[in-house]
Amino acid sequence: MTESTTFDPGPPPPGDLRAEVTAEQVAAFHDQGFVAVGALTTAEELEWLREVFDHLFAERVGGFVGGYFDLSRPYDSDGEDRLPQVLYPSSRVPRLRDTLLFRNARAVARALLGAGDDDVQVWDHMIHKPAHHGEALPWHQDEAYWDTGFAYRAIGCWTPLDDATVDNGCLHFLPGSHRGAVLDHRHIGGDPAVHGLEVDPTVALDTAAEVAVPVPAGSATFHHCRTLHSSGPNRTDGVRRAYAIEFQDPPRPTDDDSPRPWVAEGQQEWAKSIVRRRSDTSTDR
Ligand code: NI
Repeated sequence: MTESTTFDPGPPPPGDLRAEVTAEQVAAFHDQGFVAVGALTTAEELEWLREVFDHLFAERVGGFVGGYFDLSRPYDSDGEDRLPQVLYPSSRVPRLRDTLLFRNARAVARALLGAGDDDVQVWDHMIHKPAHHGEALPWHQDEAYWDTGFAYRAIGCWTPLDDATVDNGCLHFLPGSHRGAVLDHRHIGGDPAVHGLEVDPTVALDTAAEVAVPVPAGSATFHHCRTLHSSGPNRTDGVRRAYAIEFQDPPRPTDDDSPRPWVAEGQQEWAKSIVRRRSDTSTDR
């Protein structure tokens, strides 16, 4: 296994696309908890982004920064990955922050959040749904992954690098769900060694109103950190690559520390997997 290193693909191609967000889109986001927007990037930059994506997923660097693992199976599972993810790709490829996509995603996120200052925090991840066997991601709220004791004002920007369709695993949302509480979650299948979360089966979740949101490559959906969302499997012959960039105001401490036991369980398993990966590395020939 390779130690985490930076990778320099050269600068992204020049361009000056500026994404627009309308008052109607801002209103729809606040009402529904999600909104689709038009192109955040150009065809040329999409090619560059796909090369970066493919490189990071081919390298499978372990560890925390830029770490690669399967979201849908226990850490360090053998065999073909079904929903691999790379965390913090911009830590390994700092030039990702120089892209039109990054700049436009930030501008739209600030418009939707109503953030007027410069201290919006950013982190990113890339998710791959391989052709034919890319796994579904069950219903969840992103905030369920985070520590309690803080109030979050956060939004996720999800940009597919290939056209996202119902058949290859576009996102589905439950309109208005961002106004509710964080529901009980568990690690997928009830196994804390699986990174991905799902709404606990004891929660009677009514998904009748779900909306599938197909988006062309380079366009995006934005969703609130409490909006319930999911994605289907990839049943097609093509890959479905996606780049997610998350924006938030600095979390504010709050008295609400309702327990999220699944967060601590997952962190323990994740820490153990990193120790295993490091010892694998030290014995590599
Ligand atoms: Ni999510």
